[in-house]
Amino acid sequence: MTVATHNQRIVNQFTRWAKPFSELSIHSEADAMSRTLRACALTPDADVLDVACGPGILACAQAPHARAVTGIDITPAMIEQARARQAAAGLENVAWRIGDATALPFESGGFDRVTTRYSFHHMPDPAVTLAEMARVCRSGGRIVVIDATPSPETQAAYDAMEQLRDPSHTNALTLEQLRELGREAGLRELVVDGYRLEAELSTLADTADMTVLAAMFDADIASGQDRIGVGARRTHAGVQFYFPVSIVAWERLDGAR
Ligand SMILES: C[S@@+](CC[C@H](N)C(=O)[O-])C[C@H]1O[C@@H](n2cnc3c(N)ncnc32)[C@H](O)[C@@H]1O
Repeated sequence: MTVATHNQRIVNQFTRWAKPFSELSIHSEADAMSRTLRACALTPDADVLDVACGPGILACAQAPHARAVTGIDITPAMIEQARARQAAAGLENVAWRIGDATALPFESGGFDRVTTRYSFHHMPDPAVTLAEMARVCRSGGRIVVIDATPSPETQAAYDAMEQLRDPSHTNALTLEQLRELGREAGLRELVVDGYRLEAELSTLADTADMTVLAAMFDADIASGQDRIGVGARRTHAGVQFYFPVSIVAWERLDGAR
């Protein structure tokens, strides 16, 4: 699949999902957000860029702690949701752009913080996005990536589950692979943290064939071995599982590639 075809798939998927994604409470979950904001280490004079910002949940949470926040996303319907969220919150220091994370339309070194949440697993080559994030971050500034990171043992099964659940999923990196991307980009690691984001399967599945996905979860639960690595279990509310999320923050050094 070409990058253009993949990007079209992303836009189709997230145009359909913009509103439900925006309204899902797990995406604003308090402990996850407070860990994320801690890793961002915002200051009142910070200019922040949130890449692949979706409906602006993280950008709007950053805004009260920063001078200005810009959110950029490739899906116009997501940016519409972001504008609505900003208006409802009465935030005046947030701006939005439609654009591609792999070719950010910003000058080099213009931001103090550059963040992205839950986006790398949608990208064919997240190293390209990390390089762009590093380019637009000033020297001494901070880059923060938050995403699901399965263990090496469960990575293949996790990807297979995610590709069934969400056709725009490419591959989730393990935490070590994500840290390696930072090393390859010449960044200095500052923070490694994480959380388990609890979810209920039926609220998140975007598949025409729910039976195949449900069967995969049923088999995993029956095996008792957690092969997908998401702690799947059946409760009165349906199939519960968690996303194993990591947060990695780096400093951009002079001479970062
Ligand atoms: C799962 S959503 C996450 C949204 C938001 N970051 C959050 O955490 O709430 C993934 C987002 O990544 C965006 N995205 C995927 N690939 C992108 C790219 N190459 N450039 C910009 N945005 C992209 C999608 O449009 C979508 O809004």
